[in-house]
Amino acid sequence: MEILAFGVQADEQPLIEQAFHGREEIRCVDVFLNEDTAPIAAGHEIVSTSVNADLGADVLEILAAGGTRMVAQRSTGFNNIDLATAERLGMTVARVSYYSPYSVAEFAWALAMAVNRRIVRAANRTRDFDFRLQGLMGRDLHGRTAGVLGTGKIGEAFARIAHGFGMRLLGWDVAENPACAELGMRYVPKDELLAQSDLITLHVPLMAETRHLIDAPALKAMRDDAILVNSSRGGLIDTVALVGELRAGRFAGVGLDVYEAEAGLFFLDKSLEPVEDDTLARLVTFPNVLVTSHQAYYTRDAVGQIVDATARNVLDYREGRRSENVLVPRG
Ligand SMILES: NC(=O)c1ccc[n+]([C@@H]2O[C@H](COP(=O)([O-])OP(=O)(O)OC[C@H]3O[C@@H](n4cnc5c(N)ncnc54)[C@H](O)[C@@H]3O)[C@@H](O)[C@H]2O)c1
Repeated sequence: MEILAFGVQADEQPLIEQAFHGREEIRCVDVFLNEDTAPIAAGHEIVSTSVNADLGADVLEILAAGGTRMVAQRSTGFNNIDLATAERLGMTVARVSYYSPYSVAEFAWALAMAVNRRIVRAANRTRDFDFRLQGLMGRDLHGRTAGVLGTGKIGEAFARIAHGFGMRLLGWDVAENPACAELGMRYVPKDELLAQSDLITLHVPLMAETRHLIDAPALKAMRDDAILVNSSRGGLIDTVALVGELRAGRFAGVGLDVYEAEAGLFFLDKSLEPVEDDTLARLVTFPNVLVTSHQAYYTRDAVGQIVDATARNVLDYREGRRSENVLVPRG
């Protein structure tokens, strides 16, 4: 029976079709799963969803009523899925617990470097034949301190690159990663990390305990000239509080690949529509801020691994196998 894959980008589609080739029939649509689009899944036992899918209780109810029994999420994070409701509805849910952490860590570094060395501003100037250096001064990172909040797979990959730059490493996590400790990372309380770091990067998952991890007091604890990068989940930062600090002229640079209200915006072309999100509109006006639309994972390698794992998750579901990717097992 055909699988319906929601939220498929044009350059992701051939990789999905290749991963399922000869095993399953799959139809890809570019719309994201939400309450309005859920009815098109009617009659599909298995749906595959992307990172910005709305898999809240209402949507899961619509899917279940249409006969869906399995959701194969094509991401690591699953903060968008109401697992308790899925379980109640007897719906299997799987995600991709591992794919190239380098994709995200390298992108976090791209943001850090771009804001530190004003790369976008410089490129815009040269396109305009304005070759002045005024306003483009950055800082050496060698010898400075990188603070990594969340030292799992991606945090570790980030820390390895920081180590290569010759940075001192501070870490904060509920569980210490021995590989990071071997790099010389010192685990410290969050406030100490925020106060001492020149570069702060977020790699914890979004959950109730980590929502607004970077809230107004956390922002106040950071150095005025810190660089803050978020390539994890938008909800980790209180964006309104961040805008307040930026208005006060704080921070050398802020690089955001994720935004707490990104659903319904990111991955879509909104360029011809009136801007409704005043916070995001303000955020992108700061000269020291760079916002990208959740593309950190978007390398050929990572997307290939994500779709291959998704195909395996579907096969496991068909054959009644459990794996570490299963969040709600088949009842
Ligand atoms: N922007 C993107 O394209 C993109 C892509 C992939 C993943 N991500 C995000 O990156 C996050 C991290 O991915 P990963 O593969 O490194 O995950 P991981 O599970 O390997 O690491 C997460 C780390 O966070 C720590 N942690 C969990 N709860 C915590 C808490 N309450 N307080 C402090 N630390 C806590 C864990 O101990 C672990 O070390 C994902 O959850 C996802 O949200 C973003």
